[in-house]
Amino acid sequence: MFASIKISDIPRYRRKVLREPSSTRPALYVIQKNEVRAVVKDFSPNRSLYRNIVGRFLVWRESKAYKRLAGLQGVPRFFRSIDGIALILEEIPGNNIEEVEKKEILPKEFFEELRRLVERIHKRGLAHCDMKRAPNILLGHNGKPYIVDWSASISKTECRLFPLNLLYRRFLLDDFNAITKIQLRHCPENVTPEDKSHYDHRSRSEKLIRSIRNKARALLQKIA
Ligand SMILES: Nc1ncnc2c1ncn2[C@@H]1O[C@H](COP(=O)(O)OP(=O)(O)OP(=O)(O)O)[C@@H](O)[C@H]1O
Ligand SMILES: [Mg+2]
Repeated sequence: MFASIKISDIPRYRRKVLREPSSTRPALYVIQKNEVRAVVKDFSPNRSLYRNIVGRFLVWRESKAYKRLAGLQGVPRFFRSIDGIALILEEIPGNNIEEVEKKEILPKEFFEELRRLVERIHKRGLAHCDMKRAPNILLGHNGKPYIVDWSASISKTECRLFPLNLLYRRFLLDDFNAITKIQLRHCPENVTPEDKSHYDHRSRSEKLIRSIRNKARALLQKIA
């Protein structure tokens, strides 16, 4: 499906604009072909330097992650990338947690399911590394959690050597801590003492990584 679609075909198949492109973000569209709907994350409208350096890098990283996660319930199916600058993904009917949080309290079952999903992802040798951003977690219309936006993810293989292996263990824990952080907003009474204690003892390394990421983002915003 979507095997032959080119960048120039996107307007023809486009059904909805989820987000217009901005200086540091790709466009997001829903497309439809032969009754099948998909989400396209598309860097082609971004400015040339950003598109060709940052866009290609992020599309490469995200495609690699989706291939590693193929077949996992809770992760959208990856159809393909187009010319290394756009991704085509299964559309998950639902809403992201940032939207959901405005009007709904999520039950403990959602978080239990989300933790199980993250365990299965970690077993495939991948840490998401950006789960604190509520827009990266979706609540499907079926009530189940889904995780999107794999561009910051890091694989176990990339971190097999010391000291990266230690950092990778930290990333795994940070994914769970991110769930705890969100769960504390919804049903704090159901956060286990163990998860709460991990969350309270978040290390300096996490803060360091966050500050590096924020600086990198600010720099990108300047050059884009
Ligand atoms: N496969 C999908 N199915 C349904 N909605 C999706 C899908 N992928 C992305 N979205 C929607 O688009 C939003 C942004 O997606 P994503 O996080 O991948 O892009 P982004 O460029 O990283 O955005 P941000 O910088 O806000 O994190 C998600 O919060 C979600 O609402
Ligand atoms: Mg995102």
